[in-house]
Amino acid sequence: MSRNFSARREFLRFLAASPLVAMAQEPSAQSALSVLDFEPLAHKTLPPAHWGYMSSGVDDDLTVRMNREAMGHYQIRARRLVGAAKPDLSLQIFGKTWDSPIYFSAVSAQRAFHPDGELGTARAAKAKRVTQMLSTVSSTSVEDVGKALGEPPWYQLYMPTTWDETEKLVRRVEAAGCEVLAWTIDTLGGRNAETGARLARTDTRNCLTCHSSRPDVNQGSSRNRTKPMFAGLSGEMNPAGADWSYVDRLKKMTKMKLLLKGIDTAEDAVLAREHGADGVVVSNHGGRATETGRGTIDILPEVVDAVGPRFPVFVDGGFRRGTDVFKALSLGARAVGIGRPYVWGLAAYGQEGVERVIDILRAELIMTMRNCGVAAAAKFTRDSVLRNGVRL
Ligand SMILES: Cc1cc2nc3c(=O)[nH]c(=O)nc-3n(C[C@H](O)[C@H](O)[C@H](O)COP(=O)(O)O)c2cc1C
Repeated sequence: MSRNFSARREFLRFLAASPLVAMAQEPSAQSALSVLDFEPLAHKTLPPAHWGYMSSGVDDDLTVRMNREAMGHYQIRARRLVGAAKPDLSLQIFGKTWDSPIYFSAVSAQRAFHPDGELGTARAAKAKRVTQMLSTVSSTSVEDVGKALGEPPWYQLYMPTTWDETEKLVRRVEAAGCEVLAWTIDTLGGRNAETGARLARTDTRNCLTCHSSRPDVNQGSSRNRTKPMFAGLSGEMNPAGADWSYVDRLKKMTKMKLLLKGIDTAEDAVLAREHGADGVVVSNHGGRATETGRGTIDILPEVVDAVGPRFPVFVDGGFRRGTDVFKALSLGARAVGIGRPYVWGLAAYGQEGVERVIDILRAELIMTMRNCGVAAAAKFTRDSVLRNGVRL
């Protein structure tokens, strides 16, 4: 009995000294060791419907998992003694200098995750000099985000279903000074965000106290109309019948750089370039569009090979570690977008959490570059990576 008691006391003393307990007792964004530490904190903070909206993939969430698992299909070929003490993360993108090849991809309705919403993200992006891509379904207007960010964000377009409304939205975004327009083309046919819908059913709060309609993870038009970027618009978006002539017409409509977000094959990357796009984002919407079961890092090499090294190819989906970013840059990505990690940080700690997420990812990337012989973001080559143990 007394031996049991002292063993328990020993165990409690051990627990008290554990860093995990320190983190639980005094939570602070600075205690996080990895961006993955923010995921359970965001889960704990958010009501089930909002957590479901953030975490959901589609169908069985297989593609969400594949985005992560596919990172394991690649290994780093580490070179030594190249004198990379201070790797230079900076790079040129569309005539601008970026501090590092990581950006915040479009995440909708961020006030569902923290009262500061997109403004918290913008302040963090400004403090850490990160490019922010703003969603069409944002809870804050492009004008207000631009003020908090200190410059216009990149703008993610969900295309309205009429050209008249598309032109209105494009003109508003241009007037706000945005220089890059990323048209998302992977959800034109809708999506089956089942995990989100199931979790929303478990949420016992009365959503109508905050929302004008019941939650709809597929974003119905009446819901959209309440969002600031749909002022004066019907809220109908994503023309299911869009084809490549839409790219021609959009390109003619604006002088903004045009990216197509949601490119998943070599053929479509070539068509994007032929139809005047200025770059593509290899993306499956963080596994939220279609259950393809294909991780984006597995798609990246065929896209880069098809369009060549001069055409900007961005990628997002499942990037959680500096080594993941290192692999994508070695495979030819110009820069890497993150979605959930920064909104986990936002949900848990607001602006400070978003800042910590980017600090951790950059520090991990720098350490990997130092150890593995890449002195600058502009100097990545395929020599630094293997696929399933084989050189590419
Ligand atoms: C909660 C949530 C909302 C999103 N909203 C948008 C959006 O409005 N427009 C868009 O193009 N992509 C949207 N995405 C996809 C992201 O831009 C990005 O492609 C994806 O999150 C990257 O994968 P990751 O979350 O694994 O980093 C959203 C993703 C999440 C998780």
